[in-house]
Amino acid sequence: MKIHVVANEQEMSIKTANIIADLVRKKPNAVLGLPTGSTPLGTYRELARMFREENLDFSQVHTINLDEYIGLSKYHPQSYRSFMRKQFFDHINIDGRNTHVPDGMAKDVEAECRRYDEMMFRYGHTDLQLIGIGPNGHIAFNEPADSFTPDTHVSILTESTINANQRFFQNPDDMPRTAISLGMRGIMSTRHLILIACGEGKAEAVANSCFGPVTPRVPGSLIQLHPYVTVIADEAAMTLCPNKLSELDD
Ligand code: F6R
Repeated sequence: MKIHVVANEQEMSIKTANIIADLVRKKPNAVLGLPTGSTPLGTYRELARMFREENLDFSQVHTINLDEYIGLSKYHPQSYRSFMRKQFFDHINIDGRNTHVPDGMAKDVEAECRRYDEMMFRYGHTDLQLIGIGPNGHIAFNEPADSFTPDTHVSILTESTINANQRFFQNPDDMPRTAISLGMRGIMSTRHLILIACGEGKAEAVANSCFGPVTPRVPGSLIQLHPYVTVIADEAAMTLCPNKLSELDD
């Protein structure tokens, strides 16, 4: 595990965007696993700038998103499909047919989960999987539980996640309580896993994920078993694990 401690969110975003851009330049048809949320916003902005100003070409790139709320159509302003369009896809030259987000309006959500896994299986793996982390240690919407869930599944969101994400909804009660989430196998089968985090609200989750026991109670802790992980976090998010850093910085 390589850990980069950066000064602030902007540095985190630029460093992350640079890694993604390097991959896309080397492998124009790279498959990127992508999150939503506030943490990747700056990364998407920086990648869009590179598209405009440095000819970074996304025309052959494929993307697979981590999750989607159940009950929100792709046109709903808070759906993750809308988020990706507004924050990233509308600003680059990606082919919409190469972008994948679970369908939160699927009549049969279990069938939608299987379809998503089969789609992933056809790709084989993602070249890079970017993830954020919830204050309770969730990655995608794999919430703390008694066991890890390998497959794409219906996740019942915890109070912690509802509290963290309600701010995006005009009426907080409109936030769905369930989501379709990639499982741990989908996340872990990537070539390169990048965890980004900023702010002290993530300090406990980052410390537990990077240094604590590997346990489904802290889903992010599973990343310790991945052979190629990069953590990019600001100082505030690293406050609970500063003096152990040298052990892991290979
Ligand atoms: C989003 C996702 C979530 C977020 C996490 C952090 O697609 O899968 O796991 O990465 O909730 O969210 P932010 O970045 O808003 O703090």
